[in-house]
Amino acid sequence: MRLFFAFIALAAVAVIPLRAGAAVNTIDELAEMYKIDAKCIECHEDIYDEWKDSWHGKSIIDSRVLRTWRTFILSGLDKSKGTRRDLKDICLPCHVPQIKDASDELVVKIADLVVTAVEDKDEAKRESAKKELSKLNINCIICHNMKATPDGKPVAGAIYGPKGPEKIDAAPHEEEKIKSIKSEFMATSEFCAGCHHGCPPDLPSSICPTKYTSYKEEFLPRGGKETCQECHMKGEVFKSHKFPGISEVDYAKEGIDLKLTVRPTTFVYHLENRMVPAVVVKVEVTNKTGHGIPYG
Ligand code: HEC
Ligand code: HEC
Ligand code: HEC
Ligand code: HEC
Ligand code: HEC
Repeated sequence: MRLFFAFIALAAVAVIPLRAGAAVNTIDELAEMYKIDAKCIECHEDIYDEWKDSWHGKSIIDSRVLRTWRTFILSGLDKSKGTRRDLKDICLPCHVPQIKDASDELVVKIADLVVTAVEDKDEAKRESAKKELSKLNINCIICHNMKATPDGKPVAGAIYGPKGPEKIDAAPHEEEKIKSIKSEFMATSEFCAGCHHGCPPDLPSSICPTKYTSYKEEFLPRGGKETCQECHMKGEVFKSHKFPGISEVDYAKEGIDLKLTVRPTTFVYHLENRMVPAVVVKVEVTNKTGHGIPYG
């Protein structure tokens, strides 16, 4: 399904001219532009540790993603009219949004590294490609700046959050000379939909169903109240940045209630004209998440 969205996205970008911007040529330069300052890690160590091991922290080097991209590159792009550069508009905008500042050459280099990381016979080469790619991911700066405003035009260098000050430069970061600003948008489900929806705006949800459409069209109308954040960022002291999903077994268990009612009975085995013991099983499954499951 996601590949399907991606092709639609490609069709959409074909008619919208891309904005020209400063383009960087190396992974190191790109990583540097969006780097997490050591100061942030010092004060927010717990959040940093949670984030680092989350899916957002490994949004390229997750082996499911790497292997799928390999297949998409070798069997999709290489065998069609597409080129490896097209990854910039197809998969990378959500998995590595900083790609908007990369040159076409760098995108091709990243695509080559993906293939090396999965296919190369030499383990050392696979590992070194993975290490390069691991410098790119969805980090604090991507969510708390690049994606933090609904118009997509954040103030450069500022840190956005739902509890930030109305006026730039005030608490909690004033002593560090880090600009902080309030973003109520970040506490809404629409913030997550920015990457977790991905359909062009005019496409009906019947053609492009996502977690976000099932959330809006089924969960909310039936009285569901929680935002994505309220379910996925629950934390005792602070908003958790682990973002658990279907692979975290304990969390996945919270998602469904399974009730089996088993009643003994007898069954007439008509071919042999005799009664055999049997059971009637009533299965009740309740989806307690805010959207359709499973997905992906
Ligand atoms: C609109 C944003 C968006 C685009 C474009 C996108 N992805 Fe994803 N991708 C996501 C999100 C969000 C998740 C995690 C949520 C989930 O699993 O439902 C994800 C998860 C994945 C996963 C892991 C989960 C799974 O189902 O195995 C793979 C693999 C993946 N993407 C591959 C790709 C490939 C290949 C492309 C390009 C053809 C691509 N993605 C384009 C947003 C996107
Ligand atoms: C001197 C310690 C310190 C440093 C350095 C620091 N922070 Fe903070 N930050 C805080 C405190 C204290 C708060 C308020 C309490 C909280 O929400 O954790 C805060 C709050 C935040 C918030 C939540 C804002 C909101 O509106 O909800 C974000 C996001 C954040 N910091 C990100 C960063 C980033 C990114 C950096 C690095 C550029 C950074 N911080 C550097 C101490 C620090
Ligand atoms: C996938 C997006 C995403 C990433 C990546 C991310 N954050 Fe957040 N963060 C959020 C959202 C959304 C909230 C606000 C949740 C709410 O209040 O509903 C938040 C809240 C916070 C808060 C306030 C916590 C509280 O209890 O109120 C701090 C501090 C913070 N983030 C720091 C960081 C730091 C540091 C990093 C990088 C290590 C980071 N975040 C990475 C989305 C993200
Ligand atoms: C910049 C794009 C982006 C934003 C913003 C974002 N995500 Fe994600 N999210 C992704 C991608 C891409 C993945 C898949 C990464 C992977 O599997 O390696 C993902 C993975 C996840 C997963 C794990 C999915 C699984 O396979 O189990 C959860 C849960 C999740 N995100 C929830 C959220 C929530 C809640 C928000 C809003 C607070 C949010 N995300 C904001 C892009 C984003
Ligand atoms: C009422 C709580 C709740 C709400 C609201 C909610 N989720 Fe979930 N979500 C869950 C639970 C629990 C799971 C794990 C169960 C499962 O995946 O089977 C989950 C799973 C996921 C997964 C991974 C599942 C998969 O199949 O790959 C993603 C991604 C996700 N949610 C994103 C979102 C986004 C984006 C929103 C907001 C539009 C959201 N969730 C709203 C509770 C919620």
